[in-house]
Amino acid sequence: MSENTTPLKLSVIGCGYLGAVHAASMAELGHEVVGIEVDVAKAESLAAGRVPFFEPGFEELLRRSLDSGRLSFSSDMADARGAAVHFVCVGTPQRRGEYAADLTYVEAATASLIEVLGPGELVVGKSTVPVGTAARLAEQVAARVPGAALAWNPEFLREGYAVQDTLHPDRLVYGVPSLSGADTAVDAEKVLDTVYARIVADGTPKVVTDYATAEMVKTAANSFLATKISFINAMAELCEATGADVKQLADAIGHDDRIGRKFLNAGLGFGGGCLPKDIRAFMARAGELGADQALTFLREVDNINMRRRIRMVELARQVCDDSLLGKRIAVLGAAFKPDSDDIRDSPALNVAAQLQLQGANVRVTDPQALPNVRRHWSQLDCVDTPEEAAEGADVVLLLTEWKQYRELDPGSFGKMVKTRRVLDGRNALDREAWESAGWTYRALGRRNV
Ligand code: UDX
Repeated sequence: MSENTTPLKLSVIGCGYLGAVHAASMAELGHEVVGIEVDVAKAESLAAGRVPFFEPGFEELLRRSLDSGRLSFSSDMADARGAAVHFVCVGTPQRRGEYAADLTYVEAATASLIEVLGPGELVVGKSTVPVGTAARLAEQVAARVPGAALAWNPEFLREGYAVQDTLHPDRLVYGVPSLSGADTAVDAEKVLDTVYARIVADGTPKVVTDYATAEMVKTAANSFLATKISFINAMAELCEATGADVKQLADAIGHDDRIGRKFLNAGLGFGGGCLPKDIRAFMARAGELGADQALTFLREVDNINMRRRIRMVELARQVCDDSLLGKRIAVLGAAFKPDSDDIRDSPALNVAAQLQLQGANVRVTDPQALPNVRRHWSQLDCVDTPEEAAEGADVVLLLTEWKQYRELDPGSFGKMVKTRRVLDGRNALDREAWESAGWTYRALGRRNV
């Protein structure tokens, strides 16, 4: 246990990706934590120390926290009773057929939490929500449980780095009632400082603000990251038109520390469970607020991103002598990014499916995501290794830059394929090494040699 921590009793409502990592991390900080998860199978799996998704370092953390006796899981909201702080960590997916966020889970979780909530306790929202949600939920809490309060504390964790990002975040953001026009006896800042004592003691920057700003920090950050990626991908389109090289361009502008090199990797663009849906929900909310013009650029960010997927398919067709029919294509990578088994809005699978629909014989491989691919994309042929995927291939596509694919030996790997042609969808391969081994190398935004 951390010496800075005064142990509190905490509940974490919703034990998906965010909630499960948050619950185990809070136990690691020394608190007594109960994770509430409506999916009984998921709660049982977590309680047994089995992680239902792939996240480096998480299983060890989960087991350590369970072994300490400070972490438990339950499917019964009554077990959250008596906790000083209740974190709401449920998902806010995109609404079917619309851009807006679906708040069903946040609303249902808050409503059932209110049934067990006591005076003096603090509800802390961590889910990504449209601005205005916290104020509305705070009113419900105050009306039903006088003396209880609500704060908003967005989470910025990246998949693949979830444990590190939760225990060592870049910053803490607290949206507190006292700055949001709400009158409560609970000092939310003090309570959150007690929860995060070790993180605060590490000198982590902290921004204490009103609800609306706290909610917007998350969507603004994700919009900025998406814009940065689409900016460099727009430059890639221009590089393709001019013969310039986007990788060198990114390196050169990235040396300017006002710009920075991070998130300037051109390629297939962004996917996953956050950036695409968050920028769309942000646009939808701006429209409701009559401020849609402020975010029309995000529509273009989304368009640029989607065009990269189409361009990749075109490039594959080009190198396959202008016809995909019957061509054997090896797809390396299915997850939306490396070190994750998440395939939500995966650019790699989008490209694989388009190629397949256009008559190619596609074989997909991925070190972690194949069980999810088999479950959700049964029409795709999955194989366990890059070598199997590449057998007899007319072209190899690198679509998720897993380390093991970046480190493939182009010489021996070349023995598997019919023709040594590689499309680097992530600008991640050592171009020279592949070309010296006799491969024709093509990539988005890169000059042809
Ligand atoms: C993101 C945010 O980074 C995180 O702060 C927030 O809490 C949730 O959303 P995540 O979805 O895990 O996290 O992935 P991230 O590492 O941000 O990558 C998003 C996508 O952008 C991936 O598909 C990745 O491949 C792509 N990407 C990233 C690029 O195409 N180029 C880059 O330079 C960086």
